Amino acid sequence: MKVLGFESSCDETGVALVETRPGGVPRLLAEALHSQVDLHAAYGGVVPELASRDHIRRVLPLARQVMQQAGCTLAEVDLVAYTRGPGLAGALLVGAGVAVALAAALGRPALGVHHLEGHLLSPFLAEPAPEFPFVALLVSGGHTQLMQVEGVGRYTLLGETIDDAAGEAFDKSAKLLGLGYPGGPALARLAEFGDPAAYALPRPLLHSGDLDFSFAGLKTAVMTQHRKLGAQACNQSLADLAASTQAAIVDVLVAKALKALKATGSRRLVVAGGVGANLRLRERLNAGAAKLGACLHYPPLALCTDNGAMIALAAALRLQQGLAALETDGAFEVRPRWPLAELSGAVLVPA
Ligand code: KG4
Ligand code: ZN
Repeated sequence: MKVLGFESSCDETGVALVETRPGGVPRLLAEALHSQVDLHAAYGGVVPELASRDHIRRVLPLARQVMQQAGCTLAEVDLVAYTRGPGLAGALLVGAGVAVALAAALGRPALGVHHLEGHLLSPFLAEPAPEFPFVALLVSGGHTQLMQVEGVGRYTLLGETIDDAAGEAFDKSAKLLGLGYPGGPALARLAEFGDPAAYALPRPLLHSGDLDFSFAGLKTAVMTQHRKLGAQACNQSLADLAASTQAAIVDVLVAKALKALKATGSRRLVVAGGVGANLRLRERLNAGAAKLGACLHYPPLALCTDNGAMIALAAALRLQQGLAALETDGAFEVRPRWPLAELSGAVLVPA
């Protein structure tokens, strides 16, 4: 079975084609992505209306590109998947509208996928694929969560941020340091030249005893430190502040992820979402997990941030497990706010 997937929840238009394999993990046949970074950079953040309009411009050419790369025709597509939420309502509607219209034209079903389930299952696109059950650290621009994952669609929330997400902490701190948008990768690059111990920044909730996170205070501490530097700020002090900020975020993420492994007795950790691309985070998690005798799984580096492959893959895995309630009547809705835990225990119609 071939699944064509569309991602349009925020500032990346992604399209991909995957193929299910009996008894195996679905295989990625082709994928294409257009990032709107240049479009939003001038505004210092994502402008929802511009995002929607750009998704409209990009989505069909990207779909054509994917079919061409895969050497397949649309008639071979068995299922069309799209990101149903969470995300920007207008942006989601573009992917959903195109996917459902295409499915109707092809006489095939459409399936709305949870964006975070896409991230969560994206390590299945890497070799070796993880085995269930595992603990997942989901670290994206909008979410920071630890989940216990028993299987596809069986997710229990272990802890989450009570305010800003880890990606948001990277982005907001980067903005304060004048690094523009998107800040995470820029801050990580600058941090390579700095001393992570130069500034003592808070590690919020590090010893809270639970698996929750809080990053809003860190941003304030970075702002205060940046103000203190004032006119004395130079390339080195900014790099030191970037490195100290990254170290504070990474310290908390690593400590809580390892705590979750201990608390659940699990020896498998999956890391997904944009912040999962952070090399310092990977380094520290690798070292920590090795000490616990745990194994770590990441998506391929290029598939850490938003993409169509993870949406097509999540739909294909749902289909393989008979967990997909398929829509065939051309009706659809998007869910700009949609807790991942709601997927567990949902009434599921065999495909
Ligand atoms: O998963 P994602 O592409 O989008 C959401 O679903 O939110 O994650 C984007 C987030 C942004 O906050 C971005 O700054 C962050 O991931 N990010 C990084 C890195 N690459 C992306 N943060 C730190 N280091 C990186 N290398
Ligand atoms: Zn995402």
